[in-house]
Amino acid sequence: MQYSFSSRIQAVESSAVRDILKLTQGQSIISFAGGLPAEEWFPIEHIREAADKVLSQAPQALQYGLTEGVISLREQIAKRLSSVRNIQASHDEIMITSGSQQTLDLFAKALINPGDVVLVEDPTYLACLQVLRLYGAEVIGVKSDEEGMIVEDLEQKLKAHQPKFVYVVPTFSNPTGRVWSVERRQALLDHCRAHEVLILEDDPYGDLRFSGEPVPNIASLEGAVQDRLVIYTSTFSKTVAPGLRTGFVVGDKRILAMMARGKQSSDLHSSVLDQLILSELMQSATFSLDAHIEKLSHIYRERMETMATHLREDRCYRDAKWTTPQGGMFIWVELPEGLEADALLKCAVQKGVAFVPGAPFYAQVPKRNTMRLNYSFAEPAIIHEGMSRLSEAIEEFLGRYDG
Ligand SMILES: Cc1ncc(COP(=O)(O)O)c(C=O)c1O
Repeated sequence: MQYSFSSRIQAVESSAVRDILKLTQGQSIISFAGGLPAEEWFPIEHIREAADKVLSQAPQALQYGLTEGVISLREQIAKRLSSVRNIQASHDEIMITSGSQQTLDLFAKALINPGDVVLVEDPTYLACLQVLRLYGAEVIGVKSDEEGMIVEDLEQKLKAHQPKFVYVVPTFSNPTGRVWSVERRQALLDHCRAHEVLILEDDPYGDLRFSGEPVPNIASLEGAVQDRLVIYTSTFSKTVAPGLRTGFVVGDKRILAMMARGKQSSDLHSSVLDQLILSELMQSATFSLDAHIEKLSHIYRERMETMATHLREDRCYRDAKWTTPQGGMFIWVELPEGLEADALLKCAVQKGVAFVPGAPFYAQVPKRNTMRLNYSFAEPAIIHEGMSRLSEAIEEFLGRYDG
């Protein structure tokens, strides 16, 4: 039988990341491809304790719940956002989502009509590009450098396209690991205010800083004004565990109400059990989220250093460009011009190592000589082995390419 799929879903290309991950399922492949946290550091015992407590207290944990999410968790998030991020919001300006990926989906569902323009950094988070395209948005990349979006290009594109919103990952971005300067954050806010354009600030990695000085979130620069332009989203995926599928979104109540309508048609509400476990963890006498994040940041720093040492010292990277990240999970590498990362990947997989080629992260014209390396998942000894394999693959590839 010929199944007849919607043109909407057919227009979405299968995720390059997923295709590559399939490739790497063989035991011997070391993968720098996924964006996975270090699973040996999941706080399993604390999660077990919290789950036991939640389940022993009331059947409520297994009952249907509010679309907007468990109130105690939203209150705890509000408190933490105020103390750690200087973002002021009451619990009814916060909605729980099934991960920040769902925030992106619900926001696009609530805002986008086919043909609407959305501006993004170039390159940007691949799975957001997929969401935006699923809803029929025209996605336009704004030229970006180490400090964030280039203001002149942003202003020109805001004027020319009257976009529905601007999507940014300004702190330890996926894929580039970059951190926007305060000036560029403020400029984005000022220019969007002038054009009355919303900003979706996606911040899954902001807590994972291991060096440098903290930079204020765009939502914190905006403050608790009326008619907020900034919708802020983050997640427990990178700080506790992605399997709990719990994220949150902060913003104007009118926007959240529309997103809640969209959420009802997706999943009614996020898992009450997972939310109550997180709520219990956040008030546990034996677990400190802040201390856990500090430990993770320390671990990620060591892993990043192991990877960066290869990038600094291995001969094959002598003409490559990359920046040492101050946090997050990724290093973005620009290989010499003309060196196609897609083709290199095939060679690398034969050597037993995988990464993500950079091209699919671009909204329009891809730089094919780029790649994203994840350092959070593997232990230092494995990173060392994987980077040695990758250098071997690049040397071999360069040899072929020169010849
Ligand atoms: C920039 C960005 N946004 C959103 C997500 C989705 O995270 P989750 O749905 O697990 O919260 C990710 C995951 O890697 C990400 O890198």
